[in-house]
Amino acid sequence: MRDLNENTITDEALSRIGPNANPRVRSVSEALIRHLHAFIREIEPSQAEWEYGINFLTRVGQMCTDKRQEFILLSDALGVSMLVDAINHRLPEGATETTVFGPFYVEARRDFPLGADISEGVEGTPMLVTGTVSSVEGKPLAGADIDVWHSDDEGFYDVQQGDSLAMRGHFRADADGRFHFWSIRPRYYPIPDDGPVGEMLKAQGRHPFRPEHVHFMIAAQDCETLVTHVFAEGDPYLDSDVVFGVKNSLIAKFDEHGPGIAADGRTIDTPYVHLNYDFVLKPLK
Ligand code: BEZ
Ligand code: FE
Repeated sequence: MRDLNENTITDEALSRIGPNANPRVRSVSEALIRHLHAFIREIEPSQAEWEYGINFLTRVGQMCTDKRQEFILLSDALGVSMLVDAINHRLPEGATETTVFGPFYVEARRDFPLGADISEGVEGTPMLVTGTVSSVEGKPLAGADIDVWHSDDEGFYDVQQGDSLAMRGHFRADADGRFHFWSIRPRYYPIPDDGPVGEMLKAQGRHPFRPEHVHFMIAAQDCETLVTHVFAEGDPYLDSDVVFGVKNSLIAKFDEHGPGIAADGRTIDTPYVHLNYDFVLKPLK
């Protein structure tokens, strides 16, 4: 077909998808063309605006390295990552809610015994984290794999500061599905905003902050792996998390204590906080 115009080009683009295309490729491609064309019709970009858009996406790609994934950050900051998460985690009553994975997980596993301190000497307010892991039927998940990671008290992850790993670790729940460990209290922080995503946030009049949180990834036999965070009650950014990740059920009190004997029996001579959270995993289908 020739002489296409703004009224005929969408149908022609749709018709070019070949008869042998995989059905999923077909439906995704059709939706992409329909929605992209509708978007362009709605915004009617000037040629210069179209070039800016192409240049923006090019710079997002150029910013990606093995340590920085600017496309995922773009997806996060546009609410797309949480929408995908919501679609993929329609949970049964009682199961712990999920949230974004984020870019700061490190594959290299650091195994610790229960009760260990994972702060590796990084300074900050000591934090005791306790909790349980169980299934939605209420069965304790003995030996559940618990991966934890969080920022320091200035809002930086270890991987943003250099090569040494801290404030992250892997534990196994005990026979009753219980776990506990020590670290330092994290803080709210800005997502990496020195690239095109930061530029977009500024242009949209948005701040780059995430509220204070501790990341958890919990796996147990016959259960769906849970990727979530626990957020600090009272944080100033709970209602405006830049990546839209906060859920009420994931907010917990980081209880402030004076020096004394902590819940795990350890004597501590400085003020500390205690966070307790009970995780409930969804069974595999
Ligand atoms: C995080 O919580 O680590 C995170 C999540 C999304 C984007 C940036 C950081
Ligand atoms: Fe985080």
